Amino acid sequence: MLDFLGDLRRTHMCGALRVSDAGKKAVLMGWVNRRRDHGNLLFVDLRDRSGVTQVVINAERNAAIHDKSAALRNEYVIAVVGTVKLRDANTVNPNMPTGEVELIAEELRILNESKLPPFLPSDTALTNEETRLKYRYIDLRRDVMQFNIELRHKVAKAIRDYLSAQGFFEIETPFMTRSTPEGARDYLVPSRVQPGTFYALPQSPQLFKQILMISGFDRYFQIVRCFRDEDLRADRQPEFTQIDLEMSYPQPERVWEVVEGFLKSAFAAAGSEIKTPFPRMDYDEAIRLYGIDKPDLRLPAFTDVRESFSAENLQELAINANLPVIAIRTPKVGELSRKERDDIKPMFNPKGGAKVFEDFKRIGNKFPEAAAAIAKKTGMEDGDLIVIVAGSLPTGSAPAEPRMPSSEHRKVTPQELAIYASAGVLRLALAQKYADRHGIFKKSGDAAKDFRFLWVTNFPMFEWDEADKRWNAAHHPFTSPHEEDMAKLETGVEALNDPLSPLSAVRALAYDVVLNGTELGSGSIRIHRQDVQSRIFRALGMTDEEARARFGFFLEALEYGTPPHGGIALGLDRIVMILAGAESLREVIPFPKTARAVDLMVDAPTPVSEAQLKELGIAVKK
Ligand code: AMO
Repeated sequence: MLDFLGDLRRTHMCGALRVSDAGKKAVLMGWVNRRRDHGNLLFVDLRDRSGVTQVVINAERNAAIHDKSAALRNEYVIAVVGTVKLRDANTVNPNMPTGEVELIAEELRILNESKLPPFLPSDTALTNEETRLKYRYIDLRRDVMQFNIELRHKVAKAIRDYLSAQGFFEIETPFMTRSTPEGARDYLVPSRVQPGTFYALPQSPQLFKQILMISGFDRYFQIVRCFRDEDLRADRQPEFTQIDLEMSYPQPERVWEVVEGFLKSAFAAAGSEIKTPFPRMDYDEAIRLYGIDKPDLRLPAFTDVRESFSAENLQELAINANLPVIAIRTPKVGELSRKERDDIKPMFNPKGGAKVFEDFKRIGNKFPEAAAAIAKKTGMEDGDLIVIVAGSLPTGSAPAEPRMPSSEHRKVTPQELAIYASAGVLRLALAQKYADRHGIFKKSGDAAKDFRFLWVTNFPMFEWDEADKRWNAAHHPFTSPHEEDMAKLETGVEALNDPLSPLSAVRALAYDVVLNGTELGSGSIRIHRQDVQSRIFRALGMTDEEARARFGFFLEALEYGTPPHGGIALGLDRIVMILAGAESLREVIPFPKTARAVDLMVDAPTPVSEAQLKELGIAVKK
């Protein structure tokens, strides 16, 4: 028989009682975390989101409660009225905040029972993730999940408070809208009223926030859900949350100050102090030093060791002397076995003609002078691993030397990029493989609080699409080119089909904020002038008509007195994931989707009834 709650009122949370409460009456409510039966004495660990209190049910004092408590099982929901008592010295539990007290039960109400769950919140070993997601409500009762979701709340609140204090208004934008320009696939919502037409769920509020600047709101933010149908990874979900903001009349630095300010608040709310301003790095420099546009600064940068080899050395190693020779240093790996060394080559995924030299010792035996110079230049210490990535010599008799862009174009050529990018991927793979040895990625202790932020700036405006032989917008087509690079947009039509045209050298006023190798956020100064916008569409190979068909409403709005404006969006899920030391966004999103975009708890997506489809004018092809 279950009891009613009646007018019983909770006085304390289960994690609240302390020595100073001894002698007080208390009413606790929560789940039975564990029960230990010692005959006349029954101990119940009572749990809610704040913690656990030990409840003592004593047959000698109160036989009726003791009899009743025989029915208790794990995860039953109960209310206990009792008196707080100091524990005997030998039963104090120093590992629990409430470990010096216990509650002597005087009344017990069993508010609800529970089926035996497929796993218990108190289990120390984790069950498989599918079961966790199917029974998410049980999983969320676990300490870690309670902590992560609370952390998420605190971080979001700190950001909301900070931005509000800086004069930003939180303004909602529609979920049922048109396709936005972020470049992933849209989730579509069919219209019943106008059969055959669809809304798109927003990939971001990009165009709306720009229109809010045109509308005079000056500073906007929103902690907002975005939807993208893209291939999922540990740091990608089909619906995720952005901290989205936009402001009028900013230089990039003004946007960065705001972001640094709210991140400082958010990290403080999570108990971590971070230093601002963050360091800044040009995109080109990031590529040259790390081979990636989101460098993990916790690991050493590349060293170009081309100069350490003589021309003959390079010849003998069949290395292309016109391309960088990259030494990757991975700290504290220790002596590698033959097998471990052999394992490195398969980890290497070369782009262009890149090749890897995984046996530095062998290079040392053959070219002792070069090896000594490299050790010095890279700052190599005992136990550090050095792996070298370089370009192969062109093969065949044909003049394989590709056409090089002229000096006004990008500082990193496509051939160099291939070497840098191949080395960049290997650098991270090696660091991951030997993570246990160097400890830099540890999720506990000091290493867990080593937060290395970075602004990456001056991204290229356009990205060459080799498959379609055309230029795409690297960020989105509303990003402003660098004021100094405007002239390079004045090219003939032939530039539109040429990966080495001056368009390759146009820099965007775009920036990313990166933390420990994860892209936290991305933003830009926007185009506010119709003439510049037209030139960009032209460079992207879009006619005025095509542009009008896709973004007509927005282009029209641009013509009614648009102030210069810019902004950014950061992934809230990613920030919380890093703060929580979690490996996946699923650990910080209450109801996430699997890698196949399925919600295992509610079992979505599902087929719908014929009647529903008919009403929408939709036929499903089998
Ligand atoms: P962008 O597309 O770079 O920029 O997105 C900004 C940030 O949102 C997060 N993010 C994601 N998080 C989880 N799962 C995903 N699938 C996912 N996709 C993106 C990332 C990313 O850095 N409108 C522009 C911003 C602007 O220009 O102001 C935009 O959406 O942390």
